[in-house]
Amino acid sequence: MEFNIALLKGDGIGPEIVDSAVAVLEKTAEKFGHKFNFTPYLIGGCAIDATGEPLPQETVDGCLASDSVLLGAVGGPKWDTLPGNKRPEKALLGIRSALGLFTNLRPAKLYPALKEASPLRADIVSKGFDLMIVRELTGGIYFGERGYREGKYGEEAYDTEAYSRMEIERIGRVAFDTAMKRNKKLISIDKANVLETSRLWREIMHKMAEEYPEVEYSDMLVDNAAMQLVKNPAQFDVIVTSNMFGDILSDEASQITGSIGMLASASLGATTRGMYEPIHGSAPDIAGQNKANPNATILSAAMMLRYSFGLAEEADCIEKAVDKVLEAGYRTADLLGGGEGTPLTCTEMTEKILEVL
Ligand code: IPM
Ligand code: MG
Repeated sequence: MEFNIALLKGDGIGPEIVDSAVAVLEKTAEKFGHKFNFTPYLIGGCAIDATGEPLPQETVDGCLASDSVLLGAVGGPKWDTLPGNKRPEKALLGIRSALGLFTNLRPAKLYPALKEASPLRADIVSKGFDLMIVRELTGGIYFGERGYREGKYGEEAYDTEAYSRMEIERIGRVAFDTAMKRNKKLISIDKANVLETSRLWREIMHKMAEEYPEVEYSDMLVDNAAMQLVKNPAQFDVIVTSNMFGDILSDEASQITGSIGMLASASLGATTRGMYEPIHGSAPDIAGQNKANPNATILSAAMMLRYSFGLAEEADCIEKAVDKVLEAGYRTADLLGGGEGTPLTCTEMTEKILEVL
């Protein structure tokens, strides 16, 4: 099969890790007789430098014309002082919205080979965990009305959260369907004791739960969820939550795996076109030094094969190659966490995975 992939390398370590994932995709295509065509577009800080805009129209058009999008990371200190709507991060929100990517799948699993790297106590880690966060991605407070105004105490800034029935229903549907394909357990996370949007969220989720009698459904308040994630992560299978809560909890979930450099994500909409990116950021401190861990981006490419192209066997093959390389003891610097051993560079790690493939 032939697919067109838009590459948004972005800033910091973005170009290095995307190059690694492209090498892995090319090797996979060769092995299974597919053809992937790659076209790069600018996004984030590099786009600001070249065009003055974090998300040039050409990038949006290129992504819309592609079968799927692979993204590295955006942002860095150089662009940190720009106004909100000119920041590199704005491009991420913009491209998600332009492509209609309302679902963000963020798996967080403990790799047995890396359990030492988890900051959690051994007795908690020994139970293992493998959870999937389904985060609503194009609504809520990140997209609500915002600005400055005169308030009770003078000038104030404000952001607002709104969720429509439609937006909650469509993310709920994805979450229940995801649970059906996994261990049939879904926990919806909200703040229904305070927020009106959460109360509507809960009402809709409850109604939908009736359509999925096989799914063991429950609600959890977000503050409790933050605690439960470190106390007993094994209790979670699928989590569904709003844009902001999902943003925060997915960082927490990635941290307890001990290896944020391993975690992939998929952003999906109503079509098969998705955007795939590592959960970690642009890591400007190590950019251009060939030190980055390419695995999260490689695993994001595997998710692309699985979710957008229907190539499950190929995706499995990449995921297994990553497992094997880790089990053989190969580590990039982030995975050593100050421990013993000589870390592999980004390109060396990529080579190891290519060898197994
Ligand atoms: C993420 C990031 C982004 C988000 C920012 C950079 C806009 O934190 O992908 O989690 O909040 O979605
Ligand atoms: Mg985030």
